[in-house]
Amino acid sequence: MAFPLPTAEDDQLIQKLRELPEDYWDFKADDTHEYTHGLHNYPAMMVSPISRNLIRITSSIRPVHSLFDPFSGSGTVLVEGMLAGIPTVCGNDINPLALLLCRVKTTPLDPIHLRKVCSALLDQIHTLYQRDESFFSGADHYMREVLGLDLTAKDNWGSDAPSYLKEYCLSCRRADFEIPSFKNIGYWFKPNVILSLQLIKNCILEISDEPIRNFVFVAFSESIRLVSNRRNGEFKMFRMPPKKVAAFSPSVIGEFSKILSRNIEKMGNFYAACRNTSRVTIHRDNATELKSIPDDMFDLVITSPPYGDSRTTVAYGEYSRLSLQWLGLGHLTEKEILGIDRSLMGGKKYRKGFASHLHSPTLQNSLEQISAIDLERAGDVYSFYEDLDASIRAVSEKTKAGGYQFWVVGNRTVKKVLLQTDVIISELASLYHLQHVYTIDRNIPNKVMPSLNSPTNEAGAKVTTMTNEHIVVLRKI
Ligand SMILES: C[S@@+](CC[C@H](N)C(=O)[O-])C[C@H]1O[C@@H](n2cnc3c(N)ncnc32)[C@H](O)[C@@H]1O
Repeated sequence: MAFPLPTAEDDQLIQKLRELPEDYWDFKADDTHEYTHGLHNYPAMMVSPISRNLIRITSSIRPVHSLFDPFSGSGTVLVEGMLAGIPTVCGNDINPLALLLCRVKTTPLDPIHLRKVCSALLDQIHTLYQRDESFFSGADHYMREVLGLDLTAKDNWGSDAPSYLKEYCLSCRRADFEIPSFKNIGYWFKPNVILSLQLIKNCILEISDEPIRNFVFVAFSESIRLVSNRRNGEFKMFRMPPKKVAAFSPSVIGEFSKILSRNIEKMGNFYAACRNTSRVTIHRDNATELKSIPDDMFDLVITSPPYGDSRTTVAYGEYSRLSLQWLGLGHLTEKEILGIDRSLMGGKKYRKGFASHLHSPTLQNSLEQISAIDLERAGDVYSFYEDLDASIRAVSEKTKAGGYQFWVVGNRTVKKVLLQTDVIISELASLYHLQHVYTIDRNIPNKVMPSLNSPTNEAGAKVTTMTNEHIVVLRKI
């Protein structure tokens, strides 16, 4: 196949990118949590100056009226699109927590009004807590001393917390108090934490202004993780060891107030900086299809897809689980929440081999090497790239002719075989009217990612799976 020649715009873009200093894309000293970027943590968030600079550089070459991120996650690209005043900004993800974050981070709220509503909310929470303090603070003691429960055990309290809490409410003449119920709630939360979280949630639900209510729910979601028995600083669901759970005594209302105040300040900065001239739409579509999004819509695509299947790389669904269970986002059933990772890229299992039809010699070569060692694992890898291929096709359909796409990807190793996703993307893209223009290499000093794991699944065998990132630049022909 003859490759089309670079256009004059491509030449300009390549020259601009080449002129940048080698460490330009590191952003070691930048505050990547400014504005609404810092409202909530999310796995593998894009470092905000990446999209800011890609938008700036592209806009200096051709007008950018519309921006799209098909894997928008917590909404970093969308926020930057708004800050740059791009008229049409569009995000897409299938994780309902990601969709809430995208919505809230791109909805500027007047900080004066916001502060007023939030201060009334905190007053109400404090008043209700103090009015019945012994009910909230005495729950752990009751479970341990009166019911004789071990609050660190997987069974009894761990598996049946709602029924014990109902009994406790009755004994305190608080049968009116709603008890949340989802699988293993007691395994992840201590009794007084559950009651305090429910109190906060009840008060938030009374906020009539929907954008403000969602904004406060984001602070609530961030607090949930911090007051749960989850081990800190990890995206997978691991619980603290029993000794730590026993000693853990978080101040639920204190944490929530702290996060809410921090978030109000960040929203104030965003409100002041954002020209609010963008029309933002957020879709919940599978990126392999993007059926709800019109074709030929976007001048610019900036995105960071997952870098592998959720099971063996970053489990977005698992990370979001407790928030989804507490907030009831997306009206998912318990089963759907637990199965969310299987609905993401690479969720389909090929247990007995696969017939690759993907247009990438580089991928083919890696798949053959992995298959020789572990056919099932090769199937996981293939499943991911099959979805990536479909999403490249779908995103191409949504891009206007001449529009640029920037795919921020990491290369990982599976069974010690390097998967060159940057090269694979440019090979796959050539089938979908996309021309490879350039690839930027960057170090990832800021990104929170599992840089070490055991891909061979041998205990103690750790190898670096990702040391740098690549930004693959494509143009729609
Ligand atoms: C690397 S994260 C994006 C992070 C984002 N750039 C940010 O700054 O927060 C990848 C996202 O892809 C989403 N995702 C995975 N598979 C998907 C699919 N098939 N369709 C739509 N979104 C998907 C995940 O839910 C996750 O939010």
